[in-house]
Amino acid sequence: MPEAGAGMTDSEAASSMIHLEHVYLALGDAPILKDVSLDLNKGETGVILGSSGSGKTTILRLLLGLYRPDSGRVFVNGDEVSAMGEDDLYRVRGMMGMVFQGGALFDSLTVGENVAYRLTERDELDDEEVETRVRKSLGFVGLEDSIDLMPAELSGGMKKRVAIARGIAASPKMMLYDEPTAGLDPINSFNVIRLIKKLKESEGVTSVVVTHDLVAAFEVADRIAFIHEGELVYVGDRDGVLACRDTRVHEFLGRSGCVALFSGNGAPAGYSMSGIGRDKV
Ligand SMILES: Nc1ncnc2c1ncn2[C@@H]1O[C@H](COP(=O)(O)OP(=O)(O)OP(=O)(O)O)[C@@H](O)[C@H]1O
Ligand SMILES: [Mg+2]
Repeated sequence: MPEAGAGMTDSEAASSMIHLEHVYLALGDAPILKDVSLDLNKGETGVILGSSGSGKTTILRLLLGLYRPDSGRVFVNGDEVSAMGEDDLYRVRGMMGMVFQGGALFDSLTVGENVAYRLTERDELDDEEVETRVRKSLGFVGLEDSIDLMPAELSGGMKKRVAIARGIAASPKMMLYDEPTAGLDPINSFNVIRLIKKLKESEGVTSVVVTHDLVAAFEVADRIAFIHEGELVYVGDRDGVLACRDTRVHEFLGRSGCVALFSGNGAPAGYSMSGIGRDKV
């Protein structure tokens, strides 16, 4: 896979699920992303790590075509979303599922109605098909019995799982998760992590996971990108981020308790990289 910052041909861009090429973006007067280049192959899970305000959610918004770069290009599944009109963006967004920071369920809709929301919004499926997909999605996250509950009746972990069910209901090729484990206890975090891995393994879904939860990052990541104040400081595998000598990466890992948590082989001490939760101490 080409490294971040390397020039790519259009055909190479087409083989990636995600390809960001020298992206610059300012919002107001503030530069937010500075020369960000990033790739993720189909079927892989990429994690974007970084402190608050570093630009993680902004990258997801670029992928969704909600922001356009001031310069540079953004491709999703071979399509240049940074050059698309709203009609084409609507089509591309249709193959993406998004789990928003905080879950963002509609409080006045039931769990089932929340999960059905994007399916009914498009008005392409009959009621029976919508119901089937809603039940299947809730079954995937283990919440089929909660279909008639209201969001206020759910725990934080259940809300995240409903948000994931809503994201996967339209059978996306790609899932974008913004802080999927934030605010969850370790058991609920592992349930969410397990779902992210299950979607990759059973459906071949490509995922981008934005987080500052290092345990989650190391459990799900095929590739890790570390962003600091809009600048991509590291892109590579899990072991590489631990070995990275950049002081900004080092400080982030140290502040996050990584020095104490992680052993030299890239796995968090006490955790199995393959059997989520099973070998937790
Ligand atoms: N619409 C906007 N207008 C102006 N500045 C913005 C806008 N959206 C985001 N920003 C700024 O861009 C920077 C990056 O924001 P972003 O939401 O991408 O950060 P983040 O890495 O997701 O942070 P967090 O971990 O807190 O969610 C921040 O400094 C933020 O204040
Ligand atoms: Mg954010």
